Amino acid sequence: MAKERALINDVGPRDGLQNQAKILSSEQRLQLIGALVAAGLKAIEVGAFVSPKAVPTMAGTDQVVAKLPAVDEVNYSALIPNLKGYELARAAGIGTVGLVVAASNTMNEKNIRMNTAQAMSVCAEVIGQGSNDHVISQVYIATAWECPFEGVTAERVVLDLAAKLLADGADGLVIADTIGAADPAVVKSLMQKLVAEFGANRLSCHFHDTRGMGVANVYAALEAGIRHFDASIGGLGGCPFAPGATGNVATEDVVLLLEQMGFDTGIDLQKLVQAADLAGQLTGNCEGGRSSKWLKRQFEKVRAE
Ligand code: COA
Ligand code: ZN
Repeated sequence: MAKERALINDVGPRDGLQNQAKILSSEQRLQLIGALVAAGLKAIEVGAFVSPKAVPTMAGTDQVVAKLPAVDEVNYSALIPNLKGYELARAAGIGTVGLVVAASNTMNEKNIRMNTAQAMSVCAEVIGQGSNDHVISQVYIATAWECPFEGVTAERVVLDLAAKLLADGADGLVIADTIGAADPAVVKSLMQKLVAEFGANRLSCHFHDTRGMGVANVYAALEAGIRHFDASIGGLGGCPFAPGATGNVATEDVVLLLEQMGFDTGIDLQKLVQAADLAGQLTGNCEGGRSSKWLKRQFEKVRAE
């Protein structure tokens, strides 16, 4: 029987790099993206079209996009906060944009200097423009379980935002635990409700590993029917505007979990670990996934045999 597919979107070149003290050149960013393509990633968030004053590490994303490896089967996306970001992304040639709206007013104000209502109306406008231009729009619902400023997020708030965004025509939603505060029980609870209302196909999950529950949360979402996940190479990541957030759940940990459980990710783990090593060399600040020591031992054993 054919294995069931699971899709991973590596957000390392965006979420992973945006918060680094070291600003990488476009060539270095492209080196990392090239390593992810070589490992078989089919979706990569390559950067952000945001204010360079707000997030200096993401300046020059247009230069990165201009030189992306030309491989048809890889879906490259970029994060945008507003219509200006949309226009810049489109001018650069991006076909999938990631909008962002947090489930709390304070997080929206801190992140994109809009309240939730304003952020939702910007989303509706950009989604509409995207559908005219055949640009795919994904929307991150950030702080979907907990906000660093307002505390626990009510499920109803996320369900209502999701309904509105999908009614506005969003192609997909990424339910994000921006600060890594969720646990598998609350992940399963919210994702089951979202899947029941909207189906799993248009939903994806984005976890941070702040409390070491990233992989457990992926499993909880899998149990709820989710097959699309964000992850970041080597566990790089964090939001500059969300205090206390550490790296995303590492791509290598998520791929190992999925493959060991019998899913097909299409990703070569050995090459993925090489990409994580490269992320470490480039940033000087990437420990690799929790499984990376074990994975490396397996590859050494195979070489020795
Ligand atoms: N890309 C590049 N520049 C942008 C931009 C975009 N998407 N949107 C606005 N700008 C520029 C404006 O042109 C203006 O430039 P100027 O000072 O040279 O005239 C400046 O940014 C301020 O514009 P304004 O509309 O007043 O924005 P703001 O100061 O209220 O900031 C955002 C709003 C959304 C632009 C900013 O908060 C932002 O980029 N946030 C991104 C946060 C992020 O990436 N978080 C992590 C991922 S969730
Ligand atoms: Zn994130």
